[in-house]
Amino acid sequence: MITVIDGPAGSGKSSTARAVADKLKIEYLDSGALYRTATLLYLQAACDEAQFFQLLNKIKVTFSYYDQQFHVKVNDDAVTDQLRTPKVAQNVSHVAAMPRVRAFINDLMREAVANGVYIAEGRDLGTAVFPNADLKFFMKAALEERARRRYKERKPDNPELTLDEVKQNIEQRDHKDSNREADPLQKADDAIEIDTTHLSFEQQVEKICSHISDQIES
Ligand code: DC
Repeated sequence: MITVIDGPAGSGKSSTARAVADKLKIEYLDSGALYRTATLLYLQAACDEAQFFQLLNKIKVTFSYYDQQFHVKVNDDAVTDQLRTPKVAQNVSHVAAMPRVRAFINDLMREAVANGVYIAEGRDLGTAVFPNADLKFFMKAALEERARRRYKERKPDNPELTLDEVKQNIEQRDHKDSNREADPLQKADDAIEIDTTHLSFEQQVEKICSHISDQIES
C-alpha cells in the first residue's frame, strides 16, 4: 500500500509524513533526499552529464527509515549527513530536472514500495511516479508561512540567515520545480488538498492518519 504526499518546500509534508509513519508504524520514503543524493554524487563526480549517467548505473543507492530519520547509503557508505548542505541545496533543482536522473530515482522508489506499506513525499509522486497510489495528498501553505517555518528550523544553525533570504530561496525553488519540463511539481486530479497555513501540526497528522486508517479498513 502506498500513500503519497506532494507539495512545495515548507508545506509541512516531510515532518507530517514522518509523524504519520511513526504513528501508524509504516515505512517512510523521502524522495527529495534521493534527489539530494544524486546531486551530491553529481557534484563529487565533477564530470559531464553523459559520464554522470554512466556512473549512476554503476552505483547502488539504498535507503531506510529509523530513529525518525531517512537514511541513504551509496555503495554501503552513509551519505545522509551530506544531503542538507547549501551546495547541494543550490544545485538540486538543476540535477532534479535531468530526465535520466528522474528515471533512475523513480525505478529505485517503485522497487522499494513494492514490498511494504509506505508513505512517500515529494513533488510528482501522485502524478508521475505512483499514479495508482492508494491515497494521494497535496499539501500547500502560504509562501509567508512556509518561509517562516523554514527560517525557524534553520536559524539556530545559521545565525546569519534572514527571513527574506529564506523566502527568496523558497520562491526560486517553487518556480524551478513547477516550471521544469520533466515531471514538475503538480497536484494530481485525485489528490486530497490540505492547506496547512492555519492548521496545527497535530491536525495535519491526524487528518492524514484518519484517511489511511479508513482506507485500510475498507
Ligand atoms: O523535498 P526536498 O526539499 O528535500 O527536495 C529537494 C529537491 O528535489 C527539490 O528542489 C525538488 C526535488 N524533488 C523533485 O524534483 N521531485 C521529487 N519527487 C522530490 C524532490
